[in-house]
Amino acid sequence: MTTPSRRYHITTFGCQMNKADSERMAGILEEMGFQWSELPEEANLILYNTCTIRDNAEQKVYSYLGRQAKRKHEQPDLTLVVAGCVAQQEGEALLRRVPELDLVMGPQHANRLQDLLEQVFSGNQVVATDPIHIFEDITKPRRDSTVTAWVNVIYGCNERCTYCVVPNVRGVEQSRTPEAIRADMEDLGRQGFKEVTLLGQNIDAYGRDLPGVTVEGRHLHTLTDLLYSVHDVPGIERIRFATSHPRYFTERLIQACAELPKVCEHFHIPFQSGDNDVLKAMARGYTQEKYRRIIDTIREYMPDASISADAIVGFPGETEAQFQNTLKLVAEIGFDQLNTAAYSPRPGTPAALWESQLSEEVKRDRLQQLNHLVSQQAAERSQRYLGRVEEVLVEDRNPKDPGQVMGRTRGNRLTYFPGDLTGLKGCLIPVRITEVRAFSLTGEPVGNL
Ligand code: SAH
Ligand code: SF4
Ligand code: F3S
Repeated sequence: MTTPSRRYHITTFGCQMNKADSERMAGILEEMGFQWSELPEEANLILYNTCTIRDNAEQKVYSYLGRQAKRKHEQPDLTLVVAGCVAQQEGEALLRRVPELDLVMGPQHANRLQDLLEQVFSGNQVVATDPIHIFEDITKPRRDSTVTAWVNVIYGCNERCTYCVVPNVRGVEQSRTPEAIRADMEDLGRQGFKEVTLLGQNIDAYGRDLPGVTVEGRHLHTLTDLLYSVHDVPGIERIRFATSHPRYFTERLIQACAELPKVCEHFHIPFQSGDNDVLKAMARGYTQEKYRRIIDTIREYMPDASISADAIVGFPGETEAQFQNTLKLVAEIGFDQLNTAAYSPRPGTPAALWESQLSEEVKRDRLQQLNHLVSQQAAERSQRYLGRVEEVLVEDRNPKDPGQVMGRTRGNRLTYFPGDLTGLKGCLIPVRITEVRAFSLTGEPVGNL
């Protein structure tokens, strides 16, 4: 194996799954003797962990790759790796497009990085995109934070939303066992981590593929059961989970969140559209009325819960009236945060082939209108924090003001307050909120909650 000088750089695009995969791959590289290099120019192994959810995400990857491919002509010992969802989607085609690449590997192969690199170092160009069973990983991830951590609970997605590439690139659902998840969390607790976010593209599907333990007619491996079985892990003070699908969201889950003190009152439940016909065309499997009922139920149990979601505007065939239904839903629910996107046709998805595509101009205009409403609403939602004392988990320094630290409230609002990171990092601090903005807060630490 020829690995003369060993410095690596990873750039991660896309969602939290990719971030979690990157941390695991970084762990593998460090175990192999590589050292992190902040600057890609100083690394001799560069890994791009890519996203293909929308066309602009994919194009960004190509522009990064182009630069490094050029560099490889001057520095032939540079190892170039493309991992993640573009790798899975494009496979061999990526090698034709960028022949300088050494390794193209889909997300299901993240844990196999060492294996694959050994093939590269013995002189091969490698493509690893075949669907596999994801093996439990024994390598320690190199985590970006020492306070908050992600724990995968289910990989893949079995839904077939007509706009979405995720099932094509992430494969079928594979749940990890509750024992493996708990073991990870116990380890994190011992290392001093305070917050865990349980991850899945469709986390409500957790457990349906696990061999069944059925008690009184009920399958025992659900997300709700998982929350009950991990909430007492020592050291872990907060538990979050994402992403929820409205089709499977249950009142039992809401009850569990209300009952379990460590589970934060924050729900990320994408609705995508406020119009029933559009939802049907998207194959989402619920109506906007059902979505509203879920939010109402959450608010019955936890009146102050913060609610975030994703929405798409300009889906093929979306009429002005249908778009208005999305605005109406947003106006009536009052989101704390909403990730919005203009529909982007994706290769290999049904909706991309429909003739009813809207113009870029219409999509852009609708996106702007929705974004305007969202920031107005988020600002209104922030008002309720003014003067209140919120529990903030301190994660880091405020990058814009070294005299301040930053962290998040249980509702996931980014919060700044004066203080020194040493001594505060990883602590839960009661903070009186003195200033509110749409997506962040500022306050003063107080003695008692
Ligand atoms: N599993 C989650 C979301 C996964 S993708 C769910 O079911 O909600 C993250 C978000 O990207 C989606 O919620 C959707 O809003 C957006 N998205 C996915 N495909 C898209 C596309 N083709 N065009 C625009 N936005 C898209
Ligand atoms: Fe994509 Fe739908 Fe699966 Fe979410 S549930 S990842 S939108 S196919
Ligand atoms: Fe992107 Fe893949 Fe996540 S396409 S959003 S990185 S699952």
